[in-house]
Amino acid sequence: MPKAKIIGSGFYVPEKIVTNADLEKMVETTNEWIVSRSGIRERRVTDEKTLTSELAFRAAQNALKSAKVNVDYIELILVATTSPDSLFPSVACILQDKLGAKDIPAFDVSAACAGFNFALAAASAFIESGQYNNILVVGADTLTKHLDWTDRGTCVLFGDGAGAMVLSASNDNDGILASHLGAEGEGGKFLIMPTKGCITMEGKEVFKFAVRALEKSVIEVLNKAGLTLNDLDLLIPHQANIRIIDHVAKKFGLPSEKIFVNLDKYGNTSAASIPIAFNEAMSAGRIKKGDVVVLAGFGAGLTYGANVIRF
Ligand SMILES: CC(C)(COP(=O)(O)OP(=O)(O)OC[C@H]1O[C@@H](n2cnc3c(N)ncnc32)[C@H](O)[C@@H]1OP(=O)(O)O)[C@@H](O)C(=O)NCCC(=O)NCCS
Repeated sequence: MPKAKIIGSGFYVPEKIVTNADLEKMVETTNEWIVSRSGIRERRVTDEKTLTSELAFRAAQNALKSAKVNVDYIELILVATTSPDSLFPSVACILQDKLGAKDIPAFDVSAACAGFNFALAAASAFIESGQYNNILVVGADTLTKHLDWTDRGTCVLFGDGAGAMVLSASNDNDGILASHLGAEGEGGKFLIMPTKGCITMEGKEVFKFAVRALEKSVIEVLNKAGLTLNDLDLLIPHQANIRIIDHVAKKFGLPSEKIFVNLDKYGNTSAASIPIAFNEAMSAGRIKKGDVVVLAGFGAGLTYGANVIRF
């Protein structure tokens, strides 16, 4: 059975930086509070005209360039997003048109901050089954367009961005080894973005879920691949909050060199957070040939999911 191998990746974030000092002028908060409770120092924010598909397009172009393939190579486009330009057409279809990809299927995956791992798991299953050989997977969100900028409990946490990977069928012993996905619909009420209106969140409930879900998905996905924490070279968790990551790192006894964190620069970019972090981990030389890397996300739904990859 072929495995899904990452042959290229890219990301894109908007230029505009909003710092904690900027937020101090907008709501009753302090840099100290935001850093100590979340680890976030700044985030990128789109202008009004720039929609999710534009971020997805730029990240996809960078991923195709890194994979050294042109768009004709791609047989399927999956976009993980919960902040689409419109309810329809999907961001994936808008992206297909922007890229000039003809006659290939394209659809969105809606699993909030866990979305990229859901899309990656779907892509891996399509490749293993032989249905498609070459798939573009994108995670893109502009949640800042759906924030109440007077609600200090949510507006300090999120940012915009996009990340993408090109996956191809491979008969080598590397690629996505296993995926593990889950959902807890009964917790949906804790983190909601209505079709009209802004994001509301019960932070403490989401925090408890996030710690539990991250821990569980990492262990389960490693188990599924016949591996243990001892085999793990790098964990790339969803970049929501440093305290969630620290809890799990402590529980697992993982040293900081085995965990990648960049949420201080981007905040929580939802479905884009893991592919952006993956790209920065690659550029920083944190992933070497043969390494076992786990990507693990959690988010609204409530949803959680992880993929384990050998490079
Ligand atoms: C949001 C979060 C940082 C809040 O931290 P917390 O320790 O739970 O804080 P609380 O919600 O108990 O709020 C404590 C106080 O800080 C206040 N507060 C909230 N946001 C604040 C801010 N930006 N600046 C200053 N004070 C703030 C609250 O109003 C509250 O004040 P009160 O005690 O007078 O009512 C934390 O719950 C969290 O990280 N949750 C998970 C969020 C997440 O990751 N969501 C995305 C998942 S994909």
